[in-house]
This record gives sequence, C-alpha cells and structure tokens, in this order.
Amino acid sequence: MDKIIINGGNPLEGSVEISGAKNAVLPIMAAALMGNGISIITRVPDLRDTRTMIRLMEIIGAKVSFKEGTLTVDGSSVNNPEAPYDLVKTMRASFYVLGPLIARFGEVKVSLPGGCAWGPRPVDYHLKGLEELGAKVTLDSGYILAESKKLQGKTIRFEYPSVGATGNIAMAAVTANGTTIIENAAREPEIEQLCIFLNKMGADISGVGTDKLIIKGVSQLEPADIEVIPDRVEAGTFLMAGAALGEVTINKIVPTHLRTVLIKLEETGAKVRTNQNSITITRSDKIIPVDMTTAVFPGFPTDLQAQWVALMMLAEGSSVITDTVYHDRFSHVPELNRLGANIHVENNVAIIRGVKKLVGAPVMSTDIRASASLINGGLMAHGRTEVSRIYHIDRGYERIEEKFRSLGADIMRKTES
Ligand code: EPU
Repeated sequence: MDKIIINGGNPLEGSVEISGAKNAVLPIMAAALMGNGISIITRVPDLRDTRTMIRLMEIIGAKVSFKEGTLTVDGSSVNNPEAPYDLVKTMRASFYVLGPLIARFGEVKVSLPGGCAWGPRPVDYHLKGLEELGAKVTLDSGYILAESKKLQGKTIRFEYPSVGATGNIAMAAVTANGTTIIENAAREPEIEQLCIFLNKMGADISGVGTDKLIIKGVSQLEPADIEVIPDRVEAGTFLMAGAALGEVTINKIVPTHLRTVLIKLEETGAKVRTNQNSITITRSDKIIPVDMTTAVFPGFPTDLQAQWVALMMLAEGSSVITDTVYHDRFSHVPELNRLGANIHVENNVAIIRGVKKLVGAPVMSTDIRASASLINGGLMAHGRTEVSRIYHIDRGYERIEEKFRSLGADIMRKTES
C-alpha cells in the first residue's frame, strides 16, 4: 500500500492548477447514462472515484473511454440497470445511478451503500422521493429495487437539502409525466452544474442553483457535452495550506464558489487576493483562531472541516469547530493529535487549543478529507510524517503530492507492495 512521506516545515510558494470537481463529475457521469448517444465530458479528474464510476458504467452497458481528462460516454448501449454491491460499497456516489436508470428503464436494482440500513438512514430521502414520484421501492438482499413504468411529477419537499437526493430525484424526474417541484433542494455548485448538464441534454429545469427546482418532464434526453467545474474542495485545501505556510496561488477556479471560505481565511489574518479565476493567499506572522460551523452551500463546506481543524492547530489561541452536516466526521482528530496538536472532540464539536509547534509522526488516513488534513498537518509539522492508507486521498485528489512538491514542499509517494 502506498504512503505519503513528508518532511515538514518547508515554506510553500508558487501556483497550482485546480482539477475538475469530483463531486460534480460523478453525478454528470450518471446523467450521461440517460443520453442515447455520445456525451463528452472534459476536465475530468483522474481519481479512484472517477475510475470506480467508469467501471460501474461499463457494467451497466455504457461504452466509456477516458484519456487526458476527457471522458467519452456512449449511452446508446446501456442495457443493465443494476449496480452491484462490490462497487457501491467502495463509493457511495454509485447511488447516483438510481435516478437515471429508473428514468430510462422503468426499473433499477442498486445495492445499498455500505454501512447503511433500511429505514430513516442516509438514503431515505432518495427513496422517499422516488416513492413520491410513484415508484414502488423494496429492499431485497441488500439491494434497493425500484420500479415504475412512468414516474409522475409531484411537489417534493426535502427535510434537509441533501446533495445526493436532490441530484437523484432531479435525474429521475426529468422524463417523468408532468411537473416535479423539488423544494428545499441542495444549492451546491455541483448540483447546479448537474442541472445545467441535464438541460443541455434536453431537460427542462428552471430555478437552477436555487433551493426550488421546477422540472417539466420531457420525453427523452439526448447526449451533451460539458466541462466540469473546478474542485472547490481541492482549492480550499491548498488555500489552507498556504494560509499556514507561505504564498500560494490557485488557478482555474471560480472564486464565488469559495466566498465563505475566503471570508474565514481573511479572519485568520491571511491576506487574500482574488482575480477573475485565481486566488492568492499569503500567510501572516500569526494565525488568529477562528471558530467555524459547517453548513450547506453557500455556508462553509463540511468537506473542508478537517483541513480547517488542521489550520487551527497552530493558531494563537482556541477555536471551536462545529460540523452540522455530519455529526461524527472527526476521525482525523486522533491522528492530528499524534502530531502534537491539542484537539478535543465532544459530539459534533472540536475544540482546538493552538500549539506553538507540531512534530511529524506516522499517521493513518481514514477518509478523503481526513487524509487531506493529515497532509496539510504533516507539511506544518517539523520532521517526518508518514501518511498511510493513502488510497483514501487518491479517491478525491489528483496527484496531490506532485502539486505540493511544485510549491516547494518536501513530499513524496512511497509505493509498497
Ligand atoms: N441524509 C439523510 N438521508 C438521506 C440523505 C442524506 O439523512 O437520504 C443526511 C446525511 O446523513 C448527512 C446530510 O443529510 O448528514 C447531508 O448529506 P448529503 O446527502 O447532502 O450528502 P451526500 O450527497 O451523500 C455529498 C458529497 C459529500 C459531501 C456532502 C455534503 C458527493 C459524491 N458527495 O454527499 O462529499 O460531504 O454532499 O456536502 O457529492 C467528499 O467529497 O469527501 C464527500 C463526503
């Protein structure tokens, strides 16, 4: 298993180009299954999760080719509306094929994502939404079976603006009879882009980017082309490293996607300069502690919570970080404490007492964003940090060690069999 080895403490200086967004490309790939022909998706990041989605689409019958950031999906051969456990268990986002496949075939069989159970659990909004559109949904041997010859448009109000449920129900509804209205829809830029792609395919969705989507059913979708938006989470990860360690410019990004994050970064004392599609951050002599609470877009993203915790480790004072989106997303904390941080977690709140110095140590990745916080932490610590189980980081970050190396970091990948 690969490891990342960091000799921390080097200042960072320079610029990096941000990749296409993982959480935008995955639902777009699922949507391309609805087009009876070839869709071309560009600026596709080469990630484990992209590769997992390609495997899943091939099982479903699509012809997919992926070369130098361009993904070509031929949906005309799609013939198997089934997502097997072996793939779904490795990537929750596989669940995104639910909506497109029921829309196209009138039936679908998708494994429940690992760790979830039937009932009021993390896919209940998706399933309840499908039922409201008239689908019969059952659970059989760990698989969700959903069927409906033709879904019927309806007004659906989500209890919580779930990203995945908004995407899935929007995809299911585009070819339903009549009009579907999704109230309390997710407004994340990745969902906005999914709706833009669906409209390019011939869907009729208005209210795109707002919390109320109005979807008028059309008879069928055609293939379409799109360039994936930049990854605001990757961008935020580099900005937070820069705020601790030097002067970093991130290029090819959309600054408005990061508005809340930039406000918070400025509160830490870092200097932030924004241009049309780039941002430069310069560290200040001291990091001012800043409390932060995650929220749905346009709030501070939960996917940058772990990296914010890492930044606050060296702040001059205490900060309180609350995650309201996920209530137990703090697996990075015991690992960051191994670097000498002083972080205490109570329920969904982390209390960080800033320390003067961090010292490198062996640490272990537990999920995508936790891994990013360990890399940022390792860069901030003195001496050697070894981050193991980095397959987690490869799920969501493209060549992260190369990008940090180009900024002057002493970081390398060690391949172990
Ligand atoms: N929830 C339910 N029931 C549902 C769906 C969600 O209770 O049916 C709850 C979840 O348990 C959670 C909250 O609602 O507490 C938000 O979940 P959401 O459905 O919005 O998340 P998701 O669609 O499963 C996407 C991203 C996550 C990101 C969240 C929140 C993708 C592929 N994943 O997940 O990204 O954290 O939105 O913004 O888009 C990551 O990239 O590392 C990652 C975890």
